[in-house]
Amino acid sequence: MIAVVLVGGTGTRLRPITLDRPKPMLPIGGRPFLAHLLTRLGDAGVDHVIFSCGYLPDAIRRHFGEGADDGPRLTYVVEDEPLGTAGAIRLAAYGRVDEPFLALNGDVLADLDLRAFRRFHAASGARATIALTAVTEPERYGLVLTDTSGAVVAFREKPSTAELADVPEPYLINAGAYVLDPDVLELVPSGRAVSIEREVFPLLVGDGLHGWESTGYWNDIGTPESYLAANHHVLGAQPGDGVRVDPTAVVDPGAELVAPVLIGAEAVVEDGARVGPGSVIGAGSRVEADAYVLGSVLHERVHVGRGARVLDSVAAAGAVVGDHAELRELVVLGPAVRVAPGRVLARERLALEPADVAVG
Ligand code: GDD
Ligand code: MG
Repeated sequence: MIAVVLVGGTGTRLRPITLDRPKPMLPIGGRPFLAHLLTRLGDAGVDHVIFSCGYLPDAIRRHFGEGADDGPRLTYVVEDEPLGTAGAIRLAAYGRVDEPFLALNGDVLADLDLRAFRRFHAASGARATIALTAVTEPERYGLVLTDTSGAVVAFREKPSTAELADVPEPYLINAGAYVLDPDVLELVPSGRAVSIEREVFPLLVGDGLHGWESTGYWNDIGTPESYLAANHHVLGAQPGDGVRVDPTAVVDPGAELVAPVLIGAEAVVEDGARVGPGSVIGAGSRVEADAYVLGSVLHERVHVGRGARVLDSVAAAGAVVGDHAELRELVVLGPAVRVAPGRVLARERLALEPADVAVG
């Protein structure tokens, strides 16, 4: 079984934490998002994953190489120009697939039963099957309407209020996972950007396009809110007492760790500091004395000064929060950003110019 994974997007809505790495490499519960996805794909019997890359492809290739011995084989196809979701799938899969294959958005953390999904596709006789999930706010997604047999009768990408008016709840949306017959690739014109959502699915409505509903956990990590929520979800599923400390981390006996929490390799948590619930301290980061890091995700080598407060926020690699500064209500710090001592920030995104950010 082959899976094409789309990882070419620029992660605009997640800036500035996507300035130094592509969205699929963002850590979720201390592991890159793609590591979670590859585990799931391997468990579902996928033996070959083709990454369709565009933005910062080397970060992905350097990390995963040709794949782990016990996981799927990995191939990288890099676009010169963004080809859109369908163009990217075509470039990655054309000539490499001769049976139904999976195509996945590379930013969805989900408990999809991929084996059941494939079985459904084979049994329904569909040419293309879209995994569906129910949401309350469909505007950010692709709305899918089906008849009672599961055949798709309409696909509306990023629906407007008017396009939602006649649609009863629950709203079923495109979960970002497809099983496609190889002949679907013939519907994708080459030589220009083509969106599967806006151009290919509408062509297939009434002509072999089916929906398959999944009820498990589902989250597109593409905004700061949902990125933080994905981390909380993974932390909440940690085995044991929910307090995970890397053996190379140094946590002062006078510090307090509140589950669920994860302290990464060579991180330091000083006396009187309080970390968690819902926090990840990235490798090599330091939380100084009496500082609080609650509900927050720190990437690598972040420095939180003495007595500082980091609440429900995200900090990219090398960021510095000055002594007694306070971040709350989803502040997002880009790579190497420094917050002055004592400064109080709420709901802000701070970044250095992209040119000043070391890409790694
Ligand atoms: N290679 C490549 N080239 N990948 C791309 C390109 C491209 O030109 N454009 C987007 N991608 C990748 C992104 O990296 C991401 O993994 C995936 O395709 C989807 O792009 P997003 O930009 O995250 O789309 P979205 O979240 O607004 O909407 C999509 O996902 C929703 C579910 O999360 C659509 O598929 C919606 O219909 C869907 O509901
Ligand atoms: Mg997305």
